[in-house]
Amino acid sequence: MKILLTGASGLVGSAFAQAATRRGHHVIGLVGAYTGNVPGLAEKRPLDLTNEAALTAVVLETFPEAIVNCAAVAEPGQCDADPARAQALNVALPEQLARLAHHLSAKLIHLSSEQVFDGTSAEAYTVKSPVKPINLYARQKAESERLVLAAAPALAITLRVPLLSGNSLGAQRSIHERLFAAWAAGQTPQVYTDEFRQPCTAGNLAELMVELLERNDVRGVFHWAGAELLSRHEIARRIRTHFKLSDSAAPLAAITRAGDPRAASKRPARLGLDLKPLAGVVKTPLETFAAQLDQFIIPPACRAWYFSV
Ligand SMILES: NC(=O)c1ccc[n+]([C@@H]2O[C@H](COP(=O)([O-])OP(=O)(O)OC[C@H]3O[C@@H](n4cnc5c(N)ncnc54)[C@H](OP(=O)(O)O)[C@@H]3O)[C@@H](O)[C@H]2O)c1
Repeated sequence: MKILLTGASGLVGSAFAQAATRRGHHVIGLVGAYTGNVPGLAEKRPLDLTNEAALTAVVLETFPEAIVNCAAVAEPGQCDADPARAQALNVALPEQLARLAHHLSAKLIHLSSEQVFDGTSAEAYTVKSPVKPINLYARQKAESERLVLAAAPALAITLRVPLLSGNSLGAQRSIHERLFAAWAAGQTPQVYTDEFRQPCTAGNLAELMVELLERNDVRGVFHWAGAELLSRHEIARRIRTHFKLSDSAAPLAAITRAGDPRAASKRPARLGLDLKPLAGVVKTPLETFAAQLDQFIIPPACRAWYFSV
């Protein structure tokens, strides 16, 4: 299948390029500022995705059978810092891609976030739970879900995905990479003991995305995540233990949301996702956190520090 991939240099996009190519697909990847190699791409093209005319030209020129949208301003803080840019990437872009997919009769996968929920429920959120975003990033994601569904109802799959783990191209994007960078810089990362996420690797999500593109019976909004709901503190502690780092070499400051008033207004507390109806129907396995840990590599820039402690 010929696939046009946006955000090919990102955590998910780079994992998707490799997963799709392993399955024999032809992936044309669009990147923004990233200038390095992206393994798995048949072709890499730089393109500013806020340039609607240029994007339309590339889509019509490549005429893909599927479009996969992994581009975004994926950090809530960055959305707050530049709301207009975030609106262009997180809302206008997916809507444009859905319109183009509709015109081409191409399949579309768009990525949304667990953060469309407010995190106050003790129960896992189902695909039918009402969305209630509490930050700008999440409001934009919720809006993108509606627009994609409206523009390409018969062709689009939107996946709400969790905090993602794995190895990024720049080795600075995912949870363990950020912890390593902080420890190597002599810092003590602060991690909430009462904020819960259900992580999976970008690689596992990428495998699911490829599987869904290869099927013809799945359309709409779905959830995907890992097998376990863990506190951020537990996630960090297990990363430290996995790499056999001592408490003194890799310190963690356990903090609570109660002690941080900003947390309540901006950060959903508990984001468990009910994975029905996908789980049990797809072949892609759910990942335990232990299985995720086995895939993490020590970021190259932190290796000298790692061997010195
Ligand atoms: N990471 C997570 O924990 C997480 C959790 C939930 C949902 N998600 C969602 O999953 C999707 C993928 O996230 P991710 O973590 O893989 O993102 P990421 O690593 O931050 O990558 C973002 C990608 O968007 C590209 N991009 C941004 N602005 C661009 C522009 N103007 N023109 C061209 N490309 C541009 C970047 O390209 P360059 O780097 O080349 O500029 C990069 O490839 C997003 O929709 C995100 O909201 C992620």
